[in-house]
Amino acid sequence: MTEKPAILHLEDVSYRWPGRASFGLNVPDFQVAPSETVLLLGASGSGKSTLLSMICATIFADAGQVNVSGQNIAQLSAGQRDRFRAEQIGLIFQQFNLLPFASVADNILLPLQFAPERRKRIADPEAEAQRLCDALGLPQGVMTSRAGALSVGQQQRVAAARALIGTPPLIIADEPTSSLDAETQATFLELLFAQSQAHGTTVLMVSHDARLAAQFDRVVKMADIATAVRGAQ
Ligand SMILES: Nc1ncnc2c1ncn2[C@@H]1O[C@H](COP(=O)(O)OP(=O)(O)OP(=O)(O)O)[C@@H](O)[C@H]1O
Ligand SMILES: [Mg+2]
Repeated sequence: MTEKPAILHLEDVSYRWPGRASFGLNVPDFQVAPSETVLLLGASGSGKSTLLSMICATIFADAGQVNVSGQNIAQLSAGQRDRFRAEQIGLIFQQFNLLPFASVADNILLPLQFAPERRKRIADPEAEAQRLCDALGLPQGVMTSRAGALSVGQQQRVAAARALIGTPPLIIADEPTSSLDAETQATFLELLFAQSQAHGTTVLMVSHDARLAAQFDRVVKMADIATAVRGAQ
């Protein structure tokens, strides 16, 4: 790891989903350096998406600190947090979370509305959205399609374009290639790593495909950074 301060740092973090006999996670110390690309591997149900949700502050650690770009996200107000997340993190959710009735273009451009810094990096947002669609192999004319009318693999690529637009410093991707064929997966990863190289973007990506390991700076196994807690509290 480099000497630069971590862009992502979880310290003595613990979280337990509400309810009796629920799943919990303890993360003593997990750091990612700026520009680093990290592949996170772990069995289904091991808490990968739970961990990413804490990083993106959609759920909050019960104890400990989650720092993103040096900011303890628990100290932000709800409004500050939404803006901070939009600015700092390009997020590809496991379930994509597109707006199904909005156009592909509107879905891709959405984060820019909440992230003026990302918006400023682009001269022409529509042209940039089109460039990303083309680079990801989406069909001609897709920008005006309703997102919900696309195939699952196409929707996943729209979610990827939404995460990449405006080059946020951190890309968090939860199995972003699960619905893509081998060629489209390779195209997506090329684009992701090209952006990371050109802009120093940090990447934390979850996958079940350990064959991707060689393409990343570092591979982290859930079992090495987190202890899962199961059973009654
Ligand atoms: N919204 C929720 N409410 C309650 N429990 C949850 C919720 N989401 C996840 N869990 C629990 O947390 C545990 C870990 O789930 P999580 O989705 O983090 O795993 P994962 O490693 O991402 O799995 P997968 O590879 O299948 O996506 C599961 O046992 C699940 O029951
Ligand atoms: Mg998951």
